[in-house]
Amino acid sequence: MGVNIKYNFPANFWWGAATSGPQTEGRFYKRHDNVFDYWFDKEPQAFFNQVGPNVTSNFFNSYKEDIQMMKSIGLNSVRTSIQWTRLIKDFETAQVDEDGLEFYNNVINEFLKAGIIPVINLHHFDLPVELYDKYGGWESKKVVDLFVLFAKKCFALFGDRVKHWITFNEPMVIVEGEYLYQFHYPKIVDGKKAVQVLYNLNLASAKVVGAFHKTKCAENGGKIGVVLNLTPSYPRSQAENDVKAANFVEDFFNRSFLDPAIKGEFSHTLVNVLKRDGVLWEATPEELTIIRNNTVDFLGVNYYQPRRAKAKEAPFDESKGWMPDKYFDDYKLPGCRMNPYRGWEIYPQAIYDIAMNIKNNYGNISWYLSENGMGVEGEEKYVQKDGSIDDQYRIDFYEEHLSWLHKAISEKANCFGFHAWTPIDCWSWSNAYKNRYGYIAVDLATQIKTIKKSGYWIKKVAQQNGF
Ligand code: BG6
Repeated sequence: MGVNIKYNFPANFWWGAATSGPQTEGRFYKRHDNVFDYWFDKEPQAFFNQVGPNVTSNFFNSYKEDIQMMKSIGLNSVRTSIQWTRLIKDFETAQVDEDGLEFYNNVINEFLKAGIIPVINLHHFDLPVELYDKYGGWESKKVVDLFVLFAKKCFALFGDRVKHWITFNEPMVIVEGEYLYQFHYPKIVDGKKAVQVLYNLNLASAKVVGAFHKTKCAENGGKIGVVLNLTPSYPRSQAENDVKAANFVEDFFNRSFLDPAIKGEFSHTLVNVLKRDGVLWEATPEELTIIRNNTVDFLGVNYYQPRRAKAKEAPFDESKGWMPDKYFDDYKLPGCRMNPYRGWEIYPQAIYDIAMNIKNNYGNISWYLSENGMGVEGEEKYVQKDGSIDDQYRIDFYEEHLSWLHKAISEKANCFGFHAWTPIDCWSWSNAYKNRYGYIAVDLATQIKTIKKSGYWIKKVAQQNGF
């Protein structure tokens, strides 16, 4: 170990980065549209500078060079996702599209050739729009079963090489974006539907975990997990009504996925509230047994910002029907540190709090920090003479977060890795390319990719297994 290492990490620690199919590949030769493809075609003005998913970072065409660049900055593991809309020709039978199959085979093989562990996610907000139109998307248990079919196909096709699988990325964001707060198509506001979708996504994840556990891949030591955005919820004060509000936020936005994924059951306090309010999901005893018996092997935690809550200050407006907001108001901590570009609070200590929550309340299940990142607008202004971006602010951000992770690990948190968002600047949904997150910059006009200062930093961190 180098002499200047203050924070040493456990052996075989994952130093990697995460991205997704829809945010990198571009739509080249893709047979079907997902909800974002469709939304962009219909309403391009909803996307920053009207930049859509058509080209993104051109990974479909440049995956070989891109993976070489990821290797060159020392990443030992990378998460991306398989697009349902690219791999599958017929959603009802999960018949495969040959071009899609060839592409994902090539990508996986290229990662392995580069010595990078591919972590493959099955869903990153990219529901086929056809399944929304035909069945109501995640509102429907038919779609749950079609997703299981797709997942099984992926295990059969790639399970000989992919050893780390993820069922969903941030399923709560689907609930929030599509059914509560209108930032994902179809931008519905319907609390009751949101609750059913929340349940169906849990059911889908458990069914996929169950299917995976029956595969050869699992027999040979392959693992499956789920990636959750565990944004801790801090009360404004220790006053009883603030604490109660924050507790509800924890229940609805975190435990609603964390508890079923790890404990195999839903939080009783959440179920009681939803039942009392007449919005509880429809579930069968068989489904609840599936959820109980198919918990994940490991957990991915995405963390960007904390959430703060306070007791409601004005009566809840019932005119839109039931909403979780009936039980809390968001609270902005005066004077808190902010990332002004994304409008997110910066609070590194939350990493430690998350780790202790997993340790103390979730059996210290094996987990990794699957996303953490700093989106910055206008990074061109930090370009140095050699053409690289001096993103020291990103290095500082990561070091601060990692120091809290290190403290947690030294107190026996069972964390096996750190993935930054993201290896190469990528398309951020409706924010498009406004805020850049990558270790590697993309010039959108030329698609020229250049390693940033943080890319050289992570290379050194990975080599030294610390900093
Ligand atoms: C996570 C998602 O929520 O945050 C990514 O998994 C996303 O898909 C990332 O890109 C950064 O957020 P945003 O909204 O700035 O793209």
